[in-house]
Amino acid sequence: MNYNIAVIPGDGIGPEIIGEARKILDKVGAVYHHLFDYTEVLMGGISIDTYGVPLTDEALETAKNSDSVLLGAVGGNVGNSKWYDVAPNLRPEAGLLAIRKGLNLFANIRPAYLYKELADACPLKKEIIGDGFDMVIMRELTGGLYFGDRYTKEVDGVMTAVDTLTYNENEIRRIAVKAFDIAMKRKKQVISVDKANVLDSSRLWRKVVEEVAQDYPEVTLNHMLVDNCAMQLVMNPGQFDVILTENMFGDILSDEASMITGSIGMLSSASMNESKFGMYEPSHGSAPDIAGKNIANPIATILSAAMMLRYSFDLDKEADVVEAAVEQVLKEGYRTGDIYSDGFKKVSTTEMGDLIAERII
Ligand code: IPM
Ligand code: MG
Repeated sequence: MNYNIAVIPGDGIGPEIIGEARKILDKVGAVYHHLFDYTEVLMGGISIDTYGVPLTDEALETAKNSDSVLLGAVGGNVGNSKWYDVAPNLRPEAGLLAIRKGLNLFANIRPAYLYKELADACPLKKEIIGDGFDMVIMRELTGGLYFGDRYTKEVDGVMTAVDTLTYNENEIRRIAVKAFDIAMKRKKQVISVDKANVLDSSRLWRKVVEEVAQDYPEVTLNHMLVDNCAMQLVMNPGQFDVILTENMFGDILSDEASMITGSIGMLSSASMNESKFGMYEPSHGSAPDIAGKNIANPIATILSAAMMLRYSFDLDKEADVVEAAVEQVLKEGYRTGDIYSDGFKKVSTTEMGDLIAERII
């Protein structure tokens, strides 16, 4: 079959890691007789440099008309890049938020799984790691603080900045449904993370999540406060199956969860709408400090491409093969710099891509 993929390399290491994900998709296409057609789309800093805005209407249209979107990363060094000191709606990250909103990608799925082979790269003590962990963070992606009203102005002679955290019950319900659906295919445990001891939005969150839970009698639901969750992730990560949470909490917790997998360079992610349409991207950023050096870890992006095969194209077997190839390469001892330790074989970004592609047969 033919699939049209809008590809957004973006900034920093984005183009390098996207190159490796395409290599993998092309190999899958050759072995399993699919044709992946790519249309390149500019977003983020490179779009600002070319068109003056982080996402053009045409770019959004191209993404909308594709079968799915593959994204590298956008942005430069925060606080220290030519793209930082501009109006918020003209920053590279604004392009990312605009495409998430424009494509209605409200469900961000971020799996965090500890490969046995990477247990040494996990910063936690062995007794805490235990048998490892395998969790999915279901992060709400088009609401909350990221999309509420914001402004900075002088109030009574004092500079004042306001960001607004809003959720309505429909936004909460649809993401909760996604979390329970995915839990049904896993260990059937949802932990909903909020700050209901302080925030109104969290109280509504809790109430609506409990209502949705009624429709899933087989799934166990527990609630956890976000500060406690941050602690539990490094104290007992094995207790989590599906973490359901709002946009900002999910942003923070998913970085933490990725770090305990050994490297943020390993964590894939899918952002979906109500249907099978999705945008697939690594959870990490554009890492401008290592851009262009051919040392970035492409695995998170390759695993994101595998998620695309599974969730948007229903190519489960092909997705399994890609994931197995990644595992095999790790088992054979190949490591990019971020997951390297003594005794392993250090490889570059492109070498890692080649090794994984070779194992797709
Ligand atoms: C992420 C990133 C983005 C976010 C940034 C780049 C705006 O950190 O996808 O987690 O905060 O959502
Ligand atoms: Mg983040």
